[in-house]
Amino acid sequence: MQKTYTLLNPQILAELTQLVDTEDILTDIENLEKYGRDETEDLIYKPEIVVKPKTVEQISNILKLANTHKIAVTVRGAGTGLSGGALPIYGGIVISMERFNHILQIDERNLQATVEPGVINYMFQEEVKKVGLFYPPDPASWGSCSLGGNVAHSSGGPKAVKYGTTRDYVLNIEMVLPNGDIIWTGANTLKYSTGYNLTHLMVGSEGTLGIITKIVFKLIPLPKHDLLMLVPFTSAEQACESVGATFRAGITPSAMEFMERDAIDWSMKYAGEINFSVKPEWQALLLIEVDGNNMDVLMQDCETIASIMTEHGCDEILFADSAEQKASLWKIRRKVGEAVKSNSIYKEEDTVVPRAELPMLLNGVKAIGKKYGFKSVCYGHAGDGNLHVNIIKGELSDEAWNKELPKGITEIFELCKALGGTISGEHGIGLVQKDYLPIVFPEHQLQLMRNLKTLFDPNLILNPGKMVF
Ligand code: LAC
Ligand code: ZN
Repeated sequence: MQKTYTLLNPQILAELTQLVDTEDILTDIENLEKYGRDETEDLIYKPEIVVKPKTVEQISNILKLANTHKIAVTVRGAGTGLSGGALPIYGGIVISMERFNHILQIDERNLQATVEPGVINYMFQEEVKKVGLFYPPDPASWGSCSLGGNVAHSSGGPKAVKYGTTRDYVLNIEMVLPNGDIIWTGANTLKYSTGYNLTHLMVGSEGTLGIITKIVFKLIPLPKHDLLMLVPFTSAEQACESVGATFRAGITPSAMEFMERDAIDWSMKYAGEINFSVKPEWQALLLIEVDGNNMDVLMQDCETIASIMTEHGCDEILFADSAEQKASLWKIRRKVGEAVKSNSIYKEEDTVVPRAELPMLLNGVKAIGKKYGFKSVCYGHAGDGNLHVNIIKGELSDEAWNKELPKGITEIFELCKALGGTISGEHGIGLVQKDYLPIVFPEHQLQLMRNLKTLFDPNLILNPGKMVF
């Protein structure tokens, strides 16, 4: 479908300025450039205007105006996305949700919290911890990403392996539809069997169906203890093989993360943490955490894990013996993405397969890299079968990068599909994975999704150019 949008002429601009406070409108070039980027590659698309509304009514009025005049609107959380979901590729209005940054209620009676979407993930985690509660989804960017963005992508993170992704914690959402209507998608209940589940439809909808203005999250009791171990391997494949074996032995770690050699080296250099020495022969590391309330059980779990790792030929296991050591190991893991980005232009793929197929995926990615002449740095949530494949531009020519590489990525995604997986586990489709969707869905299924989008947004004003349109 051809998309044409109305540019903001002086009359529309005058109407828009009536809807929000003057200090909540940005039009200067510096800000337009800032809000024209997220963390996806080096892409930039400037909006015509940025608005930072404070109330749901303001958002409703902005959408009514945009819908009447057919103006493109892109909603933005904290701009930490890796699939280009927040990039206003048709210009128009960027609605930044940064003023919606309040935790409205922590309901200790029901183990729930109601938040605005602009709250930063880590701040929310810290607040609920103060009352002995736990909100597990912890993306690597937790110090800067917003909960609304997390919901829009159903973000994961290391803890997803035991506790699930953002989706598993969303009970109810207040949202504004493209025509300005304000709805609550469900109820604040743990069970829900009351018609189509619009709550779960909104989770992962990447700002294409409506704008999230409040979220009710489920919380769980905070586990009292955790233990962290770092397991080195001389074979990355064996590291991956040991992952499936751990679960088959009846253990569910609270994190099971994989880093191949370059990921470790680059991140240690970038994060400036050099408190343990990496032997030259190590090809990969697993970072494994267990948590719970009974320390004896956790110690036993660690022993079982250690013997599985030994069977798979690991080198000497390091047990983190202080909170500082745990923090620094986690810092190395969490900084891999940033470290790679600081090294070279790169593309980040978010491959995911059933866990036991991880060794096949890793080998396949490396073989495809050899065939097309690209280097990749692989790391990620091994326990979920979720491998981040960072493809490095390095010395590749622009021609190879723009023309040949997509063929290699296509092969990687075809491999994911063949292994029973898919092309994104937690980063979303957004702009940069959109062209690859036909690898996993037939045309009639894509059309079904387009029909769904059109039902919510007949004028295609919300986040145009993303996902299926
Ligand atoms: C991570 C982000 C990139 O796991 O998802 O580091
Ligand atoms: Zn990740």
